[in-house]
Amino acid sequence: MRLILIFAVLCFFYNETYGKVSLDIDKKLGTLNKPALKTIKSEDGDVIDCIDIYKQHAFDHPALRNHKIQMKPSVEFDTKKTTTPNNGSSKPITSQIWSKSGNCPVGTIPVRRVSRADIMRASSPSHFGRKTHHRYSFLDNALQHKANFNLTAERLREPLNNRSEAIIVALGFNFLGAQSDINIWNPQGVQAGDYSSAQIWLLGGVSNTFESIEAGWMVNQRVFGDSRTRLFASWTKDAYTKTGCINLLCSGFVQTSTKFALGATVEPVSILGGAQYFIAVSIYLDPNSGNWWLTCANNVMGYWPGILFNALKHSATAVQWGGEVYSPNLMMTKPHTKTPMGSGNWASTRWNRACFHTNLRIKDFSMQVKYPQYLSEYVDEHYCYSTRLFRDTYMSEPHFYFGGPGQNPQCP
Ligand SMILES: *[C@@H]1O[C@H](CO)[C@@H](O)[C@H](O)[C@H]1NC(C)=O
Ligand SMILES: *[C@@H]1O[C@H](CO)[C@@H](O)[C@H](O)[C@H]1NC(C)=O
Ligand SMILES: *[C@@H]1O[C@H](CO)[C@@H](O)[C@H](O)[C@H]1NC(C)=O
Repeated sequence: MRLILIFAVLCFFYNETYGKVSLDIDKKLGTLNKPALKTIKSEDGDVIDCIDIYKQHAFDHPALRNHKIQMKPSVEFDTKKTTTPNNGSSKPITSQIWSKSGNCPVGTIPVRRVSRADIMRASSPSHFGRKTHHRYSFLDNALQHKANFNLTAERLREPLNNRSEAIIVALGFNFLGAQSDINIWNPQGVQAGDYSSAQIWLLGGVSNTFESIEAGWMVNQRVFGDSRTRLFASWTKDAYTKTGCINLLCSGFVQTSTKFALGATVEPVSILGGAQYFIAVSIYLDPNSGNWWLTCANNVMGYWPGILFNALKHSATAVQWGGEVYSPNLMMTKPHTKTPMGSGNWASTRWNRACFHTNLRIKDFSMQVKYPQYLSEYVDEHYCYSTRLFRDTYMSEPHFYFGGPGQNPQCP
């Protein structure tokens, strides 16, 4: 009798908790996977749904209920004047794998379908696709001290909060845009709960509630369920406390592209000692609408509506290029994570071994697109990851190399 009672009580609790989570997952799936007008099965295993552009998840955001969609930017991020050929020896990617299997019709956008298993890997359905809170203390002083700003000293005040960065930073001005050509790699051995990214950040606000818009590629098994290199964009307006997420996994980013899907793979990846590939990424403010546009591979992806932000409404106060590793096993915790950054090779190994950003450009209030005047390099964990800004000759386009293996004898 007593056993039956215990069993009944156990069943009850099991249903209460499991049943509730399961309901939450169904709800989440319902909001993320909008009805498809056409479905494309990609050869890499992804399912791409073509959904009505006016029914995308962005418009579930309370601030965007009556938002009038902007179909294209009113300005361009004009790089023609300043861009020098990318050393002629690396190739841009121009499409994604899934588009070999079909196209999305006009009036729709391609969205990578989320599976139940994807959401179940998150700590909870509400955390799915979200970055975790951290702070950028250096932002508090970023505008005040232009000349003698010591980025290292400022960044050393920041707790690492499970993320390690190797970056180059432009400071001292208000930025209206930034771009780079990001070398594409598939770092091997990114640990299951970690992610590794190569990306651009535009930052505004203050340390504890900083605002950020970001884009590049990442390997993130927890979100995507495999170790492929995937296109991503993300945002927050409160230091990733409550707002923002990766791709379209929360409402916010408005997609307009019919050609590229966020979260889909970026290929081909570069070969060690061989062919090098890159994806051109730019993010810039549309002064007429206040929206921040994202372009990838010369294709306008869409925008973050200005209404999502406070500080970033008018400009960004810092731009970062580089890589980030997220892991609970950094710094003090030993062993250090084995998750690599970039290609997994040290920045000092340079061309066709280390991952790079090149054609670094910013746009400021002069409205000109230019190579940033003040750049500072910074690495959170020198023995695990690295940076090196390098140019062949005084006249040639600089390459910013970054990355490293993570755990190694110097980074135990
Ligand atoms: C430019 O390309 C050549 C090969 O064509 C290579 O040897 C050289 O290291 C490259 N330089 C940079 C900075 O990428
Ligand atoms: C910047 O701060 C770091 C750490 O406090 C220090 O090691 C470095 O010498 C400083 N650099 C300059 C140029 O003052
Ligand atoms: C780091 O990750 C661990 C394990 O997931 C988590 O318990 C901890 O709260 C995280 N710390 C921060 C500051 O995010």
